[in-house]
Amino acid sequence: MANQFGGEWTEIKIRVFKKYLHAYMQIMKGKPWKLIYFDGFAGSGDIQTKKETEEVIEGTARQVLSFDEPRKFDFYYFVEKDLDNAQLLQRIINKEFPTLTDKSVVAGGDDCNQKLQDMAGFLKSPKGKNYKAIAFIDPYGMQVKWDALDSLKGLGVDLWILVPTGIGINRLLKKKEKSGQVWFETLGNFFGLDPKEIEDKFYYEDPQLDLFGERKFKKIENAVEAAAILYKERLRTIFKHVSDPLPLRNSTNAVLFHFMAASNVPVAVKIANDIIKKEK
Ligand SMILES: C[S@@+](CC[C@H](N)C(=O)[O-])C[C@H]1O[C@@H](n2cnc3c(N)ncnc32)[C@H](O)[C@@H]1O
Repeated sequence: MANQFGGEWTEIKIRVFKKYLHAYMQIMKGKPWKLIYFDGFAGSGDIQTKKETEEVIEGTARQVLSFDEPRKFDFYYFVEKDLDNAQLLQRIINKEFPTLTDKSVVAGGDDCNQKLQDMAGFLKSPKGKNYKAIAFIDPYGMQVKWDALDSLKGLGVDLWILVPTGIGINRLLKKKEKSGQVWFETLGNFFGLDPKEIEDKFYYEDPQLDLFGERKFKKIENAVEAAAILYKERLRTIFKHVSDPLPLRNSTNAVLFHFMAASNVPVAVKIANDIIKKEK
C-alpha cells in the first residue's frame, strides 16, 4: 500500500525539489564529484494523496531513482523507519531499477538522525572527500533533531528540509501559555536552542496580571511565520546560505510546513530562491 499523506502541497514540494535537482545536475554534469542522494524519510515509493479517490502519485524516492538527465546520482541512501514501507521501496528498486540495486541502500527500521550523522562521518573520512550529497529531509512532524543537522557543518551537502512550522511547532506552542513544560524540551531539541530562548522568541508577557495577580504569557500572533524565520536563522549557523522559506498550505489555506534549502555554495541557494519565487 502507498504511504498516505499530502494533497496539492505534496505535489508542489516534489515539483520544487525536482526543478532544483535538474539545475543541480546541470552544474554537476562533467564535474569529478561522486554524488550521493540521501533521503532521510524515504516512504514507500508511492504516495496516496486523497483518501476518497485513492489517487496515488509517485513518491520522491521513485522520482529521484528515475532521474537520469543531465546526470544520475552515483549512490542512493534511503532511510525509512517503518519496515513495511522500506520493504515496498526495496521491492520497487529491485523490480523497476535493477541497475541501481547495487548502488542503493534502503536502511529499513533506522532513524534519519542517526544516518545523517553516519553520512557526515563518511563525508569527513578520506574516501568521502570525493563525494557531494543532496539531503532530502521530508518528515511528517518534529522528528529531526538539531544535533543531527549540525553534524553537516562545513560539508559538501545541499539540504532541502520540510519544517513543520504549522503542523508541529505551532501546535506545540499552542498547548500552554507558559514554558517549563516538557514540550519546550522538544522545541529546544528541534531548534537547537535553550527552552528559555524558545519562550523569549514565541511568547510575550501580558501587561495585565491575572485574577490572582500572577504574570501571564501570551503566544505571539504570527508564530508560524516566526518559526520559519527562526529556523532559517538557525540553519545559517550550519550552512553559509539558506533560501527563503516556501509555505506549503492545506486546502483551507492554513500553512502546514515551510520548505527551504541550505548550502555552502551561493549559486545553489540562488537557484533555490528563483524556483521558490516562481512557486509563491
Ligand atoms: C512524509 S513521509 C515521506 C514521504 C516521501 N519523502 C515521499 O516523497 O514519498 C515520512 C516517512 O518517514 C518515516 N519516518 C518517520 N520517522 C522516521 C525517522 N525518525 N527516520 C526515518 N524515517 C522516519 C515514516 O514512516 C514515513 O514513511
